[in-house]
Amino acid sequence: MKALILSGGTGTRLRPLTHTGAKQLMPIANKPVLYYALETLRDAGIQEVGIVVGHTHKEIRSAVEDGQRWGLHVTYIVQDAPRGLADAVRIAETFIGHEPFLVYLGDNLIREPLREVVLQFASMGSNALILLSSVPRPEQFGVAELVDGQVVRLIEKPTVTDSNLALVGVYVFDHTIFEAVKSIGLSWRREYEITDAIQYLVDHQYRVSAHVLTGWWKDTGTPHDVVEANRLILDSLESSITGLVDADSSLSGSVVLEPGAQVIRSVVRGPAIIGRHAVIRDAYVGPFTALGNTVQIIGSEIENSVVLAGTRIENVPVRIDGSLIGQDVLLLYNRDYRPHAWSFVLGDHSRADFR
Ligand code: TTP
Repeated sequence: MKALILSGGTGTRLRPLTHTGAKQLMPIANKPVLYYALETLRDAGIQEVGIVVGHTHKEIRSAVEDGQRWGLHVTYIVQDAPRGLADAVRIAETFIGHEPFLVYLGDNLIREPLREVVLQFASMGSNALILLSSVPRPEQFGVAELVDGQVVRLIEKPTVTDSNLALVGVYVFDHTIFEAVKSIGLSWRREYEITDAIQYLVDHQYRVSAHVLTGWWKDTGTPHDVVEANRLILDSLESSITGLVDADSSLSGSVVLEPGAQVIRSVVRGPAIIGRHAVIRDAYVGPFTALGNTVQIIGSEIENSVVLAGTRIENVPVRIDGSLIGQDVLLLYNRDYRPHAWSFVLGDHSRADFR
């Protein structure tokens, strides 16, 4: 079975970080979210992967190359504008050919092997298999209604429904999906929606089955989601200390300290991951924190946060919590200077929230 990873899109909800980078390369526990997808597909026994790319195609190509690192063969399919998930599937028809295939949203993380799902599809004689997950607030998601395990209706952000089963960003289709994606029109948000294409299958008496996930699933489309996904991945972190820890520092819990990283007169409480050549000095790094390569945390406290490579945080007088901080950011404060003032250079769409 081939797979298609959708890695185009606009990434509006992750601005300003997506002004400078592809959201599928957002590090979760210091590893791009897209790499987790590639690992999951490889572990499901898939070898041929098509990646749909948009305006960030250069970065994605240089991060994944030909997929050899995962034992995969990767082909890139360029979507000239983000016209929706159904459009991304439509343009991949030549790559897919006539076999069944799996579609995986490149900014999603799922904690469940997909081998079962691939085998299930091969044996069940359905035209589509959609992955679902029980969610506490179905009104925020695309939701499926089932009768006897078969999908009878899909509703986008329902106000009233008995179902709490949200569509996860993984689907398996046979060739009939191409008939569907070519038949549907644009939605109110001017996109070709995959939910409309699946509803087309249901309405035309094709068989659409469902698989309800038991493990967790996380979309990393917003800053809050990124911090949350980071928590979920770090939760099963195993310690590995290859960096340097001085005698005045203490580490507890699961901590990954990558080569060249230094912890000086500081406290690190895991789970936490600290990237190559990072420097933690006179600082506190608390649980569920991921610090990228060469990050410097000096005289400051941080927890439950994601900090991208090259950023320096110095003498910040309050603990940083629940934050997503981009690459090469300078967050500097002088404790001795009067008046106690902050100076800012904040880009478009920045959010400095001191509540
Ligand atoms: P979304 O998160 O639904 O869309 P988006 O990337 O445009 O983000 P936002 O809503 O914040 O503007 O997309 C899910 C995945 O599918 C993501 O990896 C991007 C990809 N995608 C495509 O490849 N092509 C498309 O036309 C769209 C809309 C998304």
